[in-house]
Amino acid sequence: MTRLAPGAKYFIYTYGCQMNERDTEIMAGFLEEMGYEAAERPEAADLVLFNTCAIRETAEQHVFGEIGRLKAVKAERPEMVIGLCGCMAQEPETVEWIRRHAPHVNLVFGTHNIHELPDILARAADTDQLVVDVWKSAGEEVVENLPSRRLDGVKAWVNIIYGCDKYCTYCIVPYTRGRERSRRPEDILREIRALALQGYKEVTLLGQNVNAYGRDLGTGYDLADLLADVQKIDGIRWVRYLTSHPWQFTQKLIDAVAANDKVCEHFHLPVQSGNNRILRKMNRHYTREDYLDLVRRIREAVPEASITTDIIVGFPGETEEEFQDTLRLVEEVGFDNAFTFIYSPRPGTPAAVWNRRDPTSMEEKKERLLRLNELQYALQRKRNERLVGRRMEVLVEGPSKKNPARLSARTRTNRIVLLPHEEGLAGRFCEVEITRAHTWYLEGRRVGEPLPERRVPLAVHS
Ligand code: SAH
Ligand code: SF4
Ligand code: F3S
Repeated sequence: MTRLAPGAKYFIYTYGCQMNERDTEIMAGFLEEMGYEAAERPEAADLVLFNTCAIRETAEQHVFGEIGRLKAVKAERPEMVIGLCGCMAQEPETVEWIRRHAPHVNLVFGTHNIHELPDILARAADTDQLVVDVWKSAGEEVVENLPSRRLDGVKAWVNIIYGCDKYCTYCIVPYTRGRERSRRPEDILREIRALALQGYKEVTLLGQNVNAYGRDLGTGYDLADLLADVQKIDGIRWVRYLTSHPWQFTQKLIDAVAANDKVCEHFHLPVQSGNNRILRKMNRHYTREDYLDLVRRIREAVPEASITTDIIVGFPGETEEEFQDTLRLVEEVGFDNAFTFIYSPRPGTPAAVWNRRDPTSMEEKKERLLRLNELQYALQRKRNERLVGRRMEVLVEGPSKKNPARLSARTRTNRIVLLPHEEGLAGRFCEVEITRAHTWYLEGRRVGEPLPERRVPLAVHS
């Protein structure tokens, strides 16, 4: 394989969750430290990396399709280097597929060793064979002081815990990301203090399971304590955390969100199903009643709370009656948003085996998803309509993707608000009045002066 010279162009495809987006920032940091530059399009790059997601089959098919498409590009430019990393890299099936169908791929590396990227590239440069470096054991230490090229100048992602030990029976993540490993509080707080000094205003604390934070450290320090410490950092205005599990979402954590005003009143609590038998089969560790009680306690402590969720329909063996329990729960809770999915069998997980004997057809599952979405969209719109006439603080993100003549902003509760375009407003906080509600977004107009914030010039830093 060709050794890439400084000045070489790289392009990273990023699929999946925020953890992957953060990993992409770190890989970009390494590549830029090595003197490489970002390319606008994969066709123009010397190095193309696929940072992949394995959560559902559709995500994987997209990656296979894109890799296939690059075959012709690489035939024209044989010196192009193609690598696959992220969660799919940890699945033996992926490596097998590459060997069989994609000989133009040069390297595969895992989710635990992105800090070895320069090394892996050097190793690949010395051979024409496929270089594979994925983990085989279930745990790795936490590596600190990674370079990174953050992709936004106002909002920053901060990892607090890696991996997941929950082993929900449908989910691949524990196999692709390993056991739960928390970063030490002092390392996290040092990173956030540096971000604040650089001018970042919003941080999102990341993990597959942020409310498991600290358990493996054995010191008793948990996410509630961390939120209280982040609250004290000058310059940071908003704090978010993703994703939390309804199991072990403690009263102490609810109280911490209520007590620390920088912590946004948004609770993303994936419920997955509203039926107790299915929840048990999923290994979720809570019942429908536990979940409803949690929602009640959150709304009691944080009346403005926005609650969003993830739901799977068509889990193996789910009956029509059991699915209706999910519809009833959705109605009872009144979610502000819901990400809904049809169950997708993942190799090596228990549910994939049960799925072989599932009598419910894909047509039926699609129909359940439609019914669920219809209900959720109607409820969501109603919840948004209640906000018309209200004033709230937003962070203006930039021109709207769909309508560049307008600015897209976000509320503390993570709702999108479209505003009339104004020069110099992007990257700043301001107060808006909500003028119209839709299912997916709100419209508003600015009232009062924006806070004089500045965007951070994007550069590589540790
Ligand atoms: N750690 C988070 C979820 C990460 S995956 C949590 O436990 O809450 C994001 C969502 O993808 C999950 O909440 C679930 O709704 C969905 N998901 C996971 N595995 C899936 C599968 N095999 N099929 C369909 N959806 C799945
Ligand atoms: Fe997957 Fe469950 Fe872990 Fe979430 S908690 S990542 S759904 S195993
Ligand atoms: Fe996907 Fe891996 Fe995230 S499977 S959702 S990229 S942890």
